[in-house]
Amino acid sequence: MTQKILRGRVLSFVAEPQGPEDTDSFVYHEDGALLIADGKILAMGPFDQVAPTAPSAAVVDHRPQLLMPGFIDLHLHFPQVQVVASWGSQLLDWLNNYTFPAELSFADAGHATRMATAFYDQLTGHGTTSAMAFCSVHETSAEAYFAEAARRNMCMIGGKVMMDRNAPDGLLDSPQSGYDASKALITKWHGQGRARYAISPRFAITSTPEQLEAAGALVTEHPECYVQTHLSENRDEIAFATSLYPEARDYLDIYEAAGLVTDKMFLGHAIHLEDREIAAMAERGAHPVFCPTSNLFLGSGLFDQGGLKARGIQSGIATDIGAGTSYSMLQTLNEGYKVLQLQGQALHPYQAFHWITRGNALTLGLAHEIGTLDAGSAADVVVLDAAATSAMALRMEASKTLAEELFVLMMMGDDRAVAQTYVAGIAQK
Ligand code: GUN
Ligand code: ZN
Repeated sequence: MTQKILRGRVLSFVAEPQGPEDTDSFVYHEDGALLIADGKILAMGPFDQVAPTAPSAAVVDHRPQLLMPGFIDLHLHFPQVQVVASWGSQLLDWLNNYTFPAELSFADAGHATRMATAFYDQLTGHGTTSAMAFCSVHETSAEAYFAEAARRNMCMIGGKVMMDRNAPDGLLDSPQSGYDASKALITKWHGQGRARYAISPRFAITSTPEQLEAAGALVTEHPECYVQTHLSENRDEIAFATSLYPEARDYLDIYEAAGLVTDKMFLGHAIHLEDREIAAMAERGAHPVFCPTSNLFLGSGLFDQGGLKARGIQSGIATDIGAGTSYSMLQTLNEGYKVLQLQGQALHPYQAFHWITRGNALTLGLAHEIGTLDAGSAADVVVLDAAATSAMALRMEASKTLAEELFVLMMMGDDRAVAQTYVAGIAQK
């Protein structure tokens, strides 16, 4: 068994930070070590304690850089890598004018495969080692997505979108074909290596009631799978969705009626919510996902993290590429911080870095594998350099604390601040 030690300043959370002074919420080793073998972390601790236990291990010295668990992105769209930065419209026009045309190309396996390579290069280049993504409606796109993740041994969650109306013909399945294709992909990929499947009805507008019922049947038959969709991102979207389902009490009720709302459900955006919807999400343990760069880019609105948290809801945080404007979870925190500032809610750097690591892992029920650097976890590690640019280096000259350094990283950092990313112990650059 070949062993390796990553040496550096090691930071990993053990609990949700309760505030800016909550230093009990993490472990931090100024001269730390991660002992790695077979893609897993065998030990985390001070270098002078870990190193003697593995005298033959090769040491990769990352000092003075910061080693953290790889970031987790809970909502993005694999077929939208060429949609990022498309100008001028809000959600429904943006989907029709930019997104649907781009997703049509993923029927072609060659295109999907080329984009999958580029997609994972972007993720790991930005320090993201796990994500939950939508593929296009075509099985080819899901095959490319999972095959490339398997090749890289990444813990990736995803699914082909189910959509059977209100989109171009080339993007439509049917209740039966969407069910059959999803079922076949679950059988092939869920639990294969590090992959997990997410049953993925795109949103109420692009699914008939029959299709949402078929998605509900998949949820019943495969309770081990996740569910991902969109909820209440934009006011025109809400009006359209609820007009298509006149019986529903509200938008979330459309999904509830189909049996989709469980603690394995992830609802992108969830901005403009009724009180009943919040209560139902809390009761069922469903997870709204905050997508700050996207919500600002499409002018969708401000996610009420504080309000949802006060109701006992555990929200995720995500880039939402391609309405999101950056693959970086650091830049996602930057914009998220500002969105919360506008609502008088302060996101402290400990809370922020907990959220994009252990916090997102907890919502997935995967904190034993990803999101921390605890022994037994996968060796998915990001190496961060808070002085990566001259502006950051200048600012860091005046930084005295770990919290300050983290704040510089989240406000000023992007892929340039990612010195290295390890997936299952393998360096990606
Ligand atoms: N709602 C339904 N589909 C999408 C999508 O692809 N992106 C965003 N931002 N919202 C959606
Ligand atoms: Zn989305």
